[in-house]
Amino acid sequence: MDWLKLPGLVDVHTHLRVPGGAHKEDFATGTAAALAGGITQVLAMPNTSPPLVTRDVLQKTRQVARQTIRCDVGLFAGASPAHIAALPELAEEAVALKIYLNDTFGPLRVEDVPTLLACFRMWPREKMIAMHAERQSVAVGIGLCAAFERPVHFCHISRKEEVELIAEAKAQGLPVTCEVTPHHLFLSQADLPRLGALGDMRPVLGTPEDVAALWAHLGSTIDCVATDHAPHTLVEKRSDNPPPGVPGLETSLPLMLTAVANGRLSLERLIDLMATNPRRIFGLPEQPDTWVEVEMTPVKIRNDGLFTRCGWSPFAGMQVAGRVARVVLRGKVAFENGRLLAEPGSGELWPIPGEKL
Ligand code: NCD
Ligand code: ZN
Repeated sequence: MDWLKLPGLVDVHTHLRVPGGAHKEDFATGTAAALAGGITQVLAMPNTSPPLVTRDVLQKTRQVARQTIRCDVGLFAGASPAHIAALPELAEEAVALKIYLNDTFGPLRVEDVPTLLACFRMWPREKMIAMHAERQSVAVGIGLCAAFERPVHFCHISRKEEVELIAEAKAQGLPVTCEVTPHHLFLSQADLPRLGALGDMRPVLGTPEDVAALWAHLGSTIDCVATDHAPHTLVEKRSDNPPPGVPGLETSLPLMLTAVANGRLSLERLIDLMATNPRRIFGLPEQPDTWVEVEMTPVKIRNDGLFTRCGWSPFAGMQVAGRVARVVLRGKVAFENGRLLAEPGSGELWPIPGEKL
């Protein structure tokens, strides 16, 4: 199998850094990186500066997005105790709600039950609630899912105990779903001496046992692969107080194709994890005449030539099994052999207020 034709891939967890972080990434560079990675549809997280927790900030960000995105984008709204009343109006212009239960980059956090209750009461039932939940916070999310009888999606599940909890909840018939990142599948704590701060992200890298559990559940409990593309500059990462997060849009598909080449994953399952399931879970629109052509050939991941503004990858130097040769989005060639053809503003932004997704 030298050449593969895949559907346009969907990444439900990216940080495109607008507003407030354009020195790390912006909509034009982030969506360029997505296309170079075979991803045609991305959801962007709300932990921006200021965060996407008020209608004003969300509307201004949507305006910038409309003019600059090169692939299709939806924005998450963020849950913030100070702005709970804004949830119904945010819901009109956001694809889903993100609740941060644990510490990570930026100040968005929910640590009290009244705010959680308000989120689950006020956010429209037909739109997803996604959670950054680690360790016992996963049990909190499962409890809310059961109490309110509505779907909950868990972001970047990284530990054996967490994926096992989610497997139990699914066995009970609860509507929980979850994603894993390629960095939690392909790196572990054993890589930290080599990577230093370039291997620091939230959740932190797991033990080899955690990594083995994620692989074991990839064919069953785990619904999606999502990048958690979290670009920071090398200067920031090498500073005394490095922010957590690593980029991932351009390396996700090549890494997962390597798992296919090594017999760890079927191509059918890769398509479920990277296109079919994320689109279904978040209710995202189909993209007609959209596909990705991949050449299955050994290549080395390199920092130069990356489209992400941060310009580095924790996987630099690693050999992977395939490369994205061509991406066609709605009938137009968007990316071809290292050349980006999609113009800023050519992507579509969802949801369109007043229209169902
Ligand atoms: C993310 C970031 O930099 O915005 N960092 C990270 O380590 N994953 C925040 C997040 O997704 O938790
Ligand atoms: Zn994230």
